[in-house]
Parts: sequence; structure tokens; C-alpha cells
Amino acid sequence: MVVTVNENFNLIQNNYLFVEIARRVDEYQKENPDVDLIKMGIGDVTRPLAKSVIKAFHDAVDEMGDPETFRGYGPEQGYDFLIEDIIENDYKPLGIDLRNSEVFISDGAKCDTGNFQELFSQDNVIAVTDPVYPVYVDSNVMAGRSGKAGDDGFYEKIVYLPATAENNFVPALPQEDVDIIYLCYPNNPTGTTLTHEQLKEWVDYAKENDAIILFDAAYEAFIRTSDVPHSIYEIEGAKEVAVEFKSYSKVAGFTGTRCAYCVVPEELKINDSNGNKVGLTALWNRRQSTKFNGVSYPVQRTAQAIYTPEGKKEIKENLDYYVENAKLIRESLIDMGLDVYGGENSPYIWFKTPDGIDSWSFFNLLLNDAHVVSTPGVGFGPSGEGYIRLTAFNTYENTKKAMERIKQLNL
Ligand code: MLT
Repeated sequence: MVVTVNENFNLIQNNYLFVEIARRVDEYQKENPDVDLIKMGIGDVTRPLAKSVIKAFHDAVDEMGDPETFRGYGPEQGYDFLIEDIIENDYKPLGIDLRNSEVFISDGAKCDTGNFQELFSQDNVIAVTDPVYPVYVDSNVMAGRSGKAGDDGFYEKIVYLPATAENNFVPALPQEDVDIIYLCYPNNPTGTTLTHEQLKEWVDYAKENDAIILFDAAYEAFIRTSDVPHSIYEIEGAKEVAVEFKSYSKVAGFTGTRCAYCVVPEELKINDSNGNKVGLTALWNRRQSTKFNGVSYPVQRTAQAIYTPEGKKEIKENLDYYVENAKLIRESLIDMGLDVYGGENSPYIWFKTPDGIDSWSFFNLLLNDAHVVSTPGVGFGPSGEGYIRLTAFNTYENTKKAMERIKQLNL
């Protein structure tokens, strides 16, 4: 017997992007221990958990220490108390009705968006906007849907839909036959958005072409403009074609606490090989029941606290804080004469490197000369070459300092 590897892993092009950045930053920091680096690379929050959220966390931990209130395995799909608050607060105000059975609590949108492809057959064609959150591509490479990557960085079987300054970051609808489309709006990494009308084109396309949209709305809480939809289900008919992913990571500082959810509507059905319709809600439920034992009780209670009046107020203060940072970054970079995108309905600011410098060289320049950690645009896909992403998640003081340091580079 010889154990053999899943050869698809050999097709993955690089280290996971943020692992590679962390490796380079660690190396730099070891060689330069006295340098005070400002980290604006991975979108990791810096504000601590809100007071009412922490109280709920403590209370739930106490419940776990009392034989009267202790809880063992919870429902794999999540507790109804949290699901009901999600439906009531995140969807009802938008005019969207959901059943409890359509909402699945998880430990992160990264896991959900990475795992969801398991429900589809291997020969399905996936389409991604480019640049893109690398999890969508890498998870499909691991699953054998990508083929090989060419020298240009594009996988042969994946359909790429470029989103660049040339098309104002509104990717064109696919020209070829695609089955599964990953969309993320407000977009990671470009920070750009789609209007209701623009998103409707995607929903209509999916309906007309029997495709499915996996809609990542992890940054929805940063929307400040009225014509940007907060949920894909605001678009008529979207329940028949879309799964939506949401996360508490950036909304409530849960990057270390881990809680998220996805919505899989009962209306969403795909075909089996005999042409029978199969509901994705039941399939995802089956997948989760087998591979996941749910998010811990204290964490779900903690997430629930976000929906209390006090919680809502505190969360809004934190979000507003990051929105101010985003504004500062955006305006500072514009003042430096750079071409800047995003940062208005998003914690991400995306800008063109000056003089056509490639992304990694500019990443190195910012690291070495400004002591600022960024994310190279090309790490998100070939169309990200020549761009850099900064996040608004550091402290206001550090954000200000970072902008001063970048300004001194006289770009
Ligand atoms: C990012 O920086 O793109 C995100 O923080 C990554 C993630 O949410 O996994």
C-alpha cells in the first residue's frame, strides 16, 4: 500500500496569501527588531469586543459552569435564539422573510465560502471576479475544478471576470457557460460596490443561465450609500439562485471569537444527474451535520448580544471608528496624487501603484521604507497586479502615522 497525495494540492500556486505576508513580515521583523511596523495587511480588527458583548460572553461561560444550565452538543445548524435574532434584525428590516431552517450558524465566512463548493459536482465551471478573495479559488483548486495554472497565473478551467479601473470595477457578465459564480460585495479586495441595478443583472443572468451565485456579504455593515444592497435577497428572485454568507468578524470584532452564518433558501434547487431537482438547504444541512458540531454556546450568546439595543449602539461606534480610518486613508492617498478606489462603503482601500511598479515591489517599498504592511494586489489574482490594498482596521493613531510615513516617500 502506498499512500498518495491529493494531487490537486500540487496545483495550488503559492502559500495562502496572508500566510505568505505574515512570513515576509516575520522575517523582516527578525532582521529589524526595533522597527515599529504598522500592520494594514490582513483585515484584522483592533477594537476590543464591545462591553455588552463581553458581558454576554461571561454570562454564558458561567452558565456552562453550572450543572443546571450546562450545555453539551448544540444543534449543528446553530441555536434558534441566534437564528431568530438574525432573521428579525438583519433581514426583516430589508423586507426579506426567512425560515429558521434556512440560516446556518458557523465559525466563519472563510470556512463557509471554502466548504460550500463540496455540494457541487466536479465538472461544474466556476467563475470569479478578478482580483478575488483567494479562498474561493484555492478551495476549488483543492477540489479538482481548476485545471493547471498558466504562466499568467490564470487556472485553465476557471472563468475570470476582471474588475479593474478600466471597467470601473464592475466586472462584465460571463461570456462562456458558467455554473457557480462567486461574488463579494462590498468587494474584498477592491472595496468597490454594486448598485441594486448592477446586482440585479447578475441575478437575472443566473436565472436565465441556470447558474448559482455564492454571495459573500461579509462587509455589508460598512455600506453607507443608499443605492447599495445590503443583501442579495433584496433583488427579486434571488432566493432561487443565491446563497448568502455573512460574518461577525469585521462587524463586531469576532476575528478571534469566530462566528458567522450563511443563508441557503429553500427555493434554491439544482439538478442531479437524472435531472431531478435537489434542494441545497437540505444538502448543506446534511453536510454540516456530518462535518460540523456547531459554534460553541458562549460564542453564539455573544453574537446574540450584538442585536440588543446596547449592543447595536456599541457595534455602530466601532464600525464608525473604522469608517473614519477608511476616509482618512482614502483622502490621504488621493492627496498624494494616487488613483484610489473603495474605502467608502468598505474597510478596504485599493490603489494603483505609482509608475506601474509591480505589487510585490511596492509591498516591499512600503515595508522597508515606510514600515507599513500592506497586501499586494496581485496576491488576489492576476488582475490585481499593479495595485495595493490597505485596511482601515488599525487604530486611528497608527492609521494617521502610516499615512504620514507614506507621504514622506514622495511617491
Ligand atoms: C482579508 O484581509 O482579506 C480578510 O481579513 C481575510 C479573511 O477574512 O479571511
